[in-house]
Amino acid sequence: MLSWDEFDKDDGTDTAAAHSNTAQAADMNIDKLDQVGGAAAVEARAIAADDSPAVARAKASLDQLDIAEGLAELEGSAARVAVDEKRMINCRADLNQLVPFKYDWAWQKYLDGCANHWMPQEVNMNADIALWKTPDGLTDDERRIVKRNLGFFSTADSLVANNLALAVYRLITNPECRQYILRQTFEEAIHTHAYQYCIESLGMDEGEIFNMYHEIPSVAKKASWGLKYTRSISDPTFNTGTVETDKELLRNLIAYYCVLEGVFFYCGFTQILSMGRRNKMTGVAEQFQYILRDESMHLNFGIDVINQIKIENPHLWDASMKEEATQMILQGTQLEIEYARDTMPRGVLGMNAAMMEDYLKFIANRRLTQIGLKEEYPGTSNPFPWMSEIMDLKKEKNFFETRVIEYQTGGALSWD
Ligand SMILES: [Fe+2]
Ligand SMILES: [Fe+2]
Repeated sequence: MLSWDEFDKDDGTDTAAAHSNTAQAADMNIDKLDQVGGAAAVEARAIAADDSPAVARAKASLDQLDIAEGLAELEGSAARVAVDEKRMINCRADLNQLVPFKYDWAWQKYLDGCANHWMPQEVNMNADIALWKTPDGLTDDERRIVKRNLGFFSTADSLVANNLALAVYRLITNPECRQYILRQTFEEAIHTHAYQYCIESLGMDEGEIFNMYHEIPSVAKKASWGLKYTRSISDPTFNTGTVETDKELLRNLIAYYCVLEGVFFYCGFTQILSMGRRNKMTGVAEQFQYILRDESMHLNFGIDVINQIKIENPHLWDASMKEEATQMILQGTQLEIEYARDTMPRGVLGMNAAMMEDYLKFIANRRLTQIGLKEEYPGTSNPFPWMSEIMDLKKEKNFFETRVIEYQTGGALSWD
C-alpha cells in the first residue's frame, strides 16, 4: 500500500529523472537567455532537496520552456527604435518600445485623458430620481428623449469599445497611439457604466432600454450601420498591407471616429444637455457633459490618426476613397436626422427636429473639412452655439469642486 511519503518520494524521483533527461533540451532554449549571468540563473532553477514536488515540477518545466517564439520576436526587433521608423500602420519597428515618441499629440491626449478621469458614482442623481418619479415632473416628450438616448448610448459605447479592442488596436502599429487607444477603451467602459448607472438610478426597465438597439428602428439603424464596419476588420485573418485592406481600416476609422463618435452622438448630447440647462435631469446631464468632454478628445484623436495615415500613405486617399468617405459622413448625417425626428416629433426643450437638422449639417461640414473634404451643406450655421462652448472647455469650471470621491493614490495605500 502506498503511503503519502512514498507517493511524494516517487513524485520527486520522477521529477529529478525528467530534469536530467531534458537537460540537453534546456541548452537549446532558455539557456540562450542565460548567457550573461547564466550560472546564477541555472543555480536558481536547480532542484533543491527541500523543494516540494510542485516546486520541483515548476523548476523542471522552466528548464524545458519553449521560448523559440518569444526569442524570435525579441531578436526580430533587436535594433533600437529610431523615430523615423515609426508608422501608424504596417510598421516594422518594435511596438513594445513606447519611446522615442514620434506622435507627441497622441501621448499628450493620453495624458489629458488621464488628467480628466472621472467616475459615474461621483454625480449626485437624487434630483433626477425625484423628478423622474413625479408623475407630472416631465412631459411625455421629455421622457421619450431621456429613454431613447439612454437606449442608444447604453449599447453604442459598447460597440465603440469592441471596435477598438477587437479590431483597431491590433492594426494601429504605433505604441503611443495604442497607449491612447487603451485609455479610450477604458473611457468607453466608464461611459457604458454611466448609462447603466442612470438607468439603474431612475429604476427604468433595463430590458426595454438595453434592447432599443434591436427594437427601435432609429436606434437600430445607427447601430447596424456602425457594426458592418467592425465586421470585416475584426476577422482574425484580416491584415493591413495591401491597398484594399489599408483602405478597409481607413473606412473603419472614418465610420467610428467621424460618424459614430462624430455625428451619431450629437443629437442625443444636445438634447440631454439642453435638458440640464433647463434644470431638469441635472445628474444625467452632468454625466453626459463629462462623456461629451471625453468624446470630443476621442474625435480629435481619430481625426489626427486618419490625417496621419493619409500623410504617410497618400496613395490611399484617392478620388474613390474621398467619395466613399464623403458618402459615409452624409449617410451618417441622414441617419442622425431620422433619429432627431423620431426623438422629437414636436418641439421640446426650446428645440425641434428642423433646428437639429441644421445643427447636424453644421457638424457634418466640420467632420468633412477636418479630414480634408469639402463641405456638402454650404451656408449652414450653428443654432446651438452653447454646445461649442461646453466642448471647448478643457475642464468643466467647477469639476473638481463638485467631486465627492478621492481616488486612492500611492499615499492612500499601506504596506501593512
Ligand atoms: Fe463613449
Ligand atoms: Fe468615444
